[in-house]
Amino acid sequence: MFIKQNYINGHWVETKDVMSVINPATKERIGEVSNSGTAEATLAVEAASQAFVPWSKKTANDRSQFLYQWHQLIKEHTDELAQIMTIEQGKPLKEALAEVQYANDYVLWYAEEAKRNYGDTIPASSVNKHIIVKKEPVGVVAAITPWNFPAAMITRKLAPALAAGCTVVIKPSEETPFTALKLIQLAERANFPKGVLNIVTGNAKQIGDVWLQDKRVRKLTFTGSTPVGKLLMRKASDTVKKLSLELGGHAPFIVMKNADIEKAVEGAIQSKFRNAGQACVATNRFYVHEDIMERFTDRLIEQVSRLSIGNGLNNNVDIGPLINEAAITKVMDHIEDAVKKGASILTGGKRTMEKKGYFIQPTVIGNVTDDMLCMQDETFGPLAPITSFKTIDEVVDRANNSAFGLAAYVFTNNMNEAALFMNNLEYGVVGVNDGLPSTAQAPFGGYKESGLGREGGYFGIEEYLELKYISIGSFIQN
Ligand code: SIN
Repeated sequence: MFIKQNYINGHWVETKDVMSVINPATKERIGEVSNSGTAEATLAVEAASQAFVPWSKKTANDRSQFLYQWHQLIKEHTDELAQIMTIEQGKPLKEALAEVQYANDYVLWYAEEAKRNYGDTIPASSVNKHIIVKKEPVGVVAAITPWNFPAAMITRKLAPALAAGCTVVIKPSEETPFTALKLIQLAERANFPKGVLNIVTGNAKQIGDVWLQDKRVRKLTFTGSTPVGKLLMRKASDTVKKLSLELGGHAPFIVMKNADIEKAVEGAIQSKFRNAGQACVATNRFYVHEDIMERFTDRLIEQVSRLSIGNGLNNNVDIGPLINEAAITKVMDHIEDAVKKGASILTGGKRTMEKKGYFIQPTVIGNVTDDMLCMQDETFGPLAPITSFKTIDEVVDRANNSAFGLAAYVFTNNMNEAALFMNNLEYGVVGVNDGLPSTAQAPFGGYKESGLGREGGYFGIEEYLELKYISIGSFIQN
């Protein structure tokens, strides 16, 4: 079930040095993977670089067929992939199954999109000239992926890169390598030519440094925290690599006076407690109109206190563990800071089953003010701080008052209000009466310090393409 080797140039290769992978629901060691570094990262780039020309010269139809085949194999292995994901990452099995489906939607989308990589012709300003714009793959792509969505964050990067004609080197998170390795094994079975996909697990700094310094790597795509994104951006500047960065978020969730309270609470649960709050698009702060504050809060507390916590492999679990001790510390710090500054815990607020795993109760806090840590910094855990507002202008200002700009949510039954939010929220993803907007055909990405570029939809493949403009003058007539 768990693969431990790197996959480089079409071969599964072991390293002497290994590192353990832990199940966050039990704190037990579930296996080990290669603890690779500079040497393996270099071999991977060499393989991807050699494979680039033949892969990029294949027809779009050919590349599409490989992706269709990969899609089919992922579909057939959905249960196994979901099990692996729950064991190494902790999310409830039902969420893991949904993630495999979501991940595979990207593969299917780009199997189709590979064939629609159209260029342009542009009217020239001289009768003797013709202008053509064609799209070409950027080259070798380095993909560095996070632990919170171990399948979807891989396919959301790899599928468009491969469809565009790029080859890839991948480093998955050291917390969740097994889902990634399984996906690459399925790609191997889909017969992608050797060197087209290469995966290396291990030392993030060594691997990252090799890929960032190597001129043959023309693009870096990364999902993770804003501080790490900034560091990678600085390092990538030496070789002027193209960048896609999907970084942190701090999503506001706004509930207007006329909102359907049941729908708003349902959206709140989806956006806040999916993956125990460990998503960049997770709601971080709730703004509720003062007239409905009590009704909304009571209903949310009722629903949150019903969520069952436990090992994601058990039936009916809604909230799995957090990924590690540092994640628990961060959430507890946010709760303690808020309480110290006057917040009250309305439900939850405690660490639980500590001997078993990294569990924390889903928590709602009231009497929240904007100076609290949880209202400024990404919590990445199951904490829902609620504050009230009076006017629409006030709430738009407070929602936009953040260095982040990934996702925002609004619940209202008034189209004029909805339009005002759509036009004024400085966020890359806005859910209007929708707590779960992520989908393969839409552009996912953030404003401000939430990142650069977009993943998904027809926009996503553009990130892996160069534009070549060709100006054609007249030919000598014989
Ligand atoms: C993320 O948290 O980065 C991804 C979440 C999603 O794709 O919905």
